[in-house]
Amino acid sequence: MMARIIFTFICLVFVCHNVAESRTVSMYDLKPATLIKSISKPALLGGDSPIFRNCSKTSDGFQLTNVLVAGCSVPPCPLIKGTNTSIEIDFIADKEVTAVTAKVYGQIDGIKVPFPLTNSDACSCGVACPTKAGNAYKYKYSLPIASEYPSMTLAVFWYLYDATVEELCMDVAVTIKDA
Ligand SMILES: *[C@@H]1O[C@H](CO)[C@@H](O)[C@H](O)[C@H]1NC(C)=O
Ligand SMILES: *[C@@H]1O[C@H](CO)[C@@H](O)[C@H](O)[C@H]1NC(C)=O
Repeated sequence: MMARIIFTFICLVFVCHNVAESRTVSMYDLKPATLIKSISKPALLGGDSPIFRNCSKTSDGFQLTNVLVAGCSVPPCPLIKGTNTSIEIDFIADKEVTAVTAKVYGQIDGIKVPFPLTNSDACSCGVACPTKAGNAYKYKYSLPIASEYPSMTLAVFWYLYDATVEELCMDVAVTIKDA
């Protein structure tokens, strides 16, 4: 019941469409609390524990190397209302992709809600397209945190796609809070 109320609220706030399609509970069905505990240390990163989880599939064509969220060293990452949060996703391409598209979802209680981006074209967000196999890329996005968003902790899933094919997935626990 509570989940349904929260879900409805997020839907209203995030202007969700095609919600029915995105309500499938997936293998990434983790609550933020579980997510934080399950973060594993990627081989490519030295030093501090990463703030993200690598949800890429082995068949994905982009190898995630690092994720930076401005102002965050320990999850959940604070997303302050009324500000823009810079997010950076570093990866190495295993293949050539002409058009790279970003898709973002917020997840609460196993329900993924689309989080529409003003600009979903990753080729205009730091990724030089077409990608070349073996090259490293930095995808950068400045995410506006609307004052109308509810204050809550949730998991944010960020994907990079080649048309309909997933090439990368990362998720990070965030807390939307007042300034
Ligand atoms: C993420 O997972 C993919 C697929 O298993 C792998 O190719 C990539 O190296 C991983 N990256 C990190 C940082 O763990
Ligand atoms: C956030 O980014 C948008 C679009 O780039 C810009 O119009 C706005 O002024 C920025 N807001 C803040 C608080 O920096």
